[in-house]
Amino acid sequence: TSIPIRKYQNFWFPEAHLPGIMAIRQHFNPRPDDLFLISFPKSGTTWLKALAFATMTRTHYPLDRHPLLSLNPHDVVPFMDDLFVAGQASKLEALPSPRILATHMPYSLLPDSITGSGCRIIYICCDPKDVVVSLWHFSAKASAAKGRECFPFDKFFEMACEGDFPYSPIWDHSLQYWKESLKRSEKVLFLKYEEMLEEPAANVKRLAEFLGCPLSEEEEKEGVVEKIISLCSFEKLKSLDANKKGSQGIAVFKVANASFFRKGGIGDWRNHASPEMAQKLDGIVREKLEGSGLTILGVE
Ligand code: A3P
Repeated sequence: TSIPIRKYQNFWFPEAHLPGIMAIRQHFNPRPDDLFLISFPKSGTTWLKALAFATMTRTHYPLDRHPLLSLNPHDVVPFMDDLFVAGQASKLEALPSPRILATHMPYSLLPDSITGSGCRIIYICCDPKDVVVSLWHFSAKASAAKGRECFPFDKFFEMACEGDFPYSPIWDHSLQYWKESLKRSEKVLFLKYEEMLEEPAANVKRLAEFLGCPLSEEEEKEGVVEKIISLCSFEKLKSLDANKKGSQGIAVFKVANASFFRKGGIGDWRNHASPEMAQKLDGIVREKLEGSGLTILGVE
């Protein structure tokens, strides 16, 4: 990408993000009821943040006067790494329990204090081809804001295939959480963006059950699931002032809130990558996931 990246313990990271990751490894104090939302960048993090927050707090806020109507999902569920980098770790301590926090860290880099503390983790994964397209647009916008150019798409795509790409290798990132979700299904929930688009109601119910707050019969009758889905939908969030204005992130990597709502949906890779390029990345991903039981809709 056009941002400098560095390899650390088998994964590549934006240099600007590494201090936050180190700080979490050394200084983060988890609470047993913390919930972590984790993803490879551009895999549906924003949507997961909105859905998990809306589901978990549904009895606190009326859905028609909800914080998500006036705040960006990243303001409601912060990236803990960013807070450390910004010197705002005290904000993490000040958050009331149960906290919902996010990171893009690979499982192998999470400190034992998180993995061994009984905290819940929800991971979201998405077809790597769509992830690459989304990240390319996202990086291009961030670069343009700084007067820099992003790599051409073909080069960017090739870097993803090689695995030297921020937070990559993407297949290892997802596989680590997949394996953990098989071992500890009560603590690690593995979601797929494509399945969530196909069956949002079933996935919101899954989320609620995993979070220990399953939907009651009465809530089902009142259409609470549908209300959550509608509040968190791409169209709804994109239309809100809070998401049209403002920005996120640390000074070195600031991005407009609007950049998190580009196109939504799946399959935009078809408008960017040739069938040969797609075949190459699919082939690599298929091979890497072989035998794991993890399948990704769209990887052929
Ligand atoms: P596109 O760039 O393909 O549009 P992340 O949140 O991990 O940064 O991922 C960003 C991708 O999720 C973007 O994909 C974005 O449009 C999509 N997205 C954001 N909000 C969404 C929502 N509420 N529902 C579905 N997809 C959403």
